[in-house]
Amino acid sequence: MGESKRIYIETYGCQMNLADSEIVLGIMKKHGYSLTDDISKADVILVNTCSVREHAEQRVIGRLSSFLRYKKRKPDLVIGVLGCMAERLKKRLIEEENLADIVVGPDEYRKLPQLVNDAFAGHKGIAVKLSKVETYDDITPLRTEGISAWITVMRGCDKFCTFCVVPFTRGRERSRPLDSIVKEVEMLSSQGYREVTLLGQNVNSYRDGNYDFADLLSAVAQVDRNMRIRFTTSHPKDMSNKLIQTIAEHPNICNYIHLPVQSGSDRILELMNRTYDRKHYLELVRKIRETIPGVSLSTDIIAGFPTETEEDHKMTLSLLEEVRFDGAFMFKYSPREGTKAYAMGDDVPDEVKVRRLMEIIELQQKISYEINQGLIGKEVEVLVEGESKRSSEQWMGRTDTNKVVIFPKHESVKPGDYVIVRINKANSATLFGDIVKILHEKNLSKNSLVSSLN
Ligand code: 5AD
Ligand code: SF4
Repeated sequence: MGESKRIYIETYGCQMNLADSEIVLGIMKKHGYSLTDDISKADVILVNTCSVREHAEQRVIGRLSSFLRYKKRKPDLVIGVLGCMAERLKKRLIEEENLADIVVGPDEYRKLPQLVNDAFAGHKGIAVKLSKVETYDDITPLRTEGISAWITVMRGCDKFCTFCVVPFTRGRERSRPLDSIVKEVEMLSSQGYREVTLLGQNVNSYRDGNYDFADLLSAVAQVDRNMRIRFTTSHPKDMSNKLIQTIAEHPNICNYIHLPVQSGSDRILELMNRTYDRKHYLELVRKIRETIPGVSLSTDIIAGFPTETEEDHKMTLSLLEEVRFDGAFMFKYSPREGTKAYAMGDDVPDEVKVRRLMEIIELQQKISYEINQGLIGKEVEVLVEGESKRSSEQWMGRTDTNKVVIFPKHESVKPGDYVIVRINKANSATLFGDIVKILHEKNLSKNSLVSSLN
């Protein structure tokens, strides 16, 4: 014995991909494979990939090329490309680029053990069919994170935003049954997990018979009140009053909503097929803030969509000023073959895109900084996640509003504990402070802001 083949896996892109990699490892473990984090010892190298922007794909191509030296040393090493790039580029990765032995799309992971086996025998393989029903509902993911777990509750996307490749790489929307998700959360709770993030490209479209996403969130929140519940991503078109109400009602559903707006210009929103306008979005934000006091909001922005004028760009800047998001993920538009926007051309010159993106980033950083400065002197509930990356003397955790907090270690505090931290310093991305109280169990008030000195 001790003969099990070793897998090394790298994951790029969104949280859905991180969750998918755990599903892949769950499948492979069942077939006798073990996991290694030392690439030079691997018998199988898997790369779970992202196609959302050109840049992400180029990074992976570079990475795959660098694996060829391991292959030289160990000719029967199997290299596999998984995820969105596998779906998009299909056999090109094998035939033209010769970068992979197997290519497996997001709905075909059950075939992976067979494909890897065939590859050991010298047969390259490809499986990229999309499914209308696959949710991997019965697969137990191999989780490697400490106290926080992801659960994919729906897969695919039917929105067809004109810039986005996801509807083509991940296929149609489909949901997992509510009962089985609740059972999984019960199991995670009994295993000591303290945080669960419900994932979907578009969680508001979750549906199981008569149950919608608000019903799911409510059922999951009742499993264990000491467990924080997060979810992503929400679409501004489908954010129902019932869902907002549900977030407000449950103390352990985090006061944090990621709500991508993409642009502040109605003309661009229309061209993007986002199906809402600026007015709808602002009204939604008003309603959310009124119903969930202290809620933190983040968004996604794209700079330089086809035909975007200086006027359109200014509308995006003014929307950022009007909403004052806690944070944002900001991107330069990247044309993706096969999407509707691709046919619109890519007429905003790169230097204009870069300049607009810089203006957006600068403004948003200033806003995030100001919001975080306002937390100095305040006491916040933090779930301790682990050691700070920068220093072994410090813990890192998050507020329920999803802000990272760094604070000195305390001997009776461990990852998974809840503590109250008084904030004494802040920048645009991180809060710093000191523990003032150890809770261990979660505080059951809705607002994470426990008290204030001023
Ligand atoms: N170019 C730039 N950004 C994109 N996104 C999706 N497609 C593209 C693209 N073609 C961004 C959107 C989305 C986030 C996940 O990625 O802002 O919300
Ligand atoms: Fe892409 Fe739009 Fe679907 Fe999000 S909602 S995955 S941006 S098509």
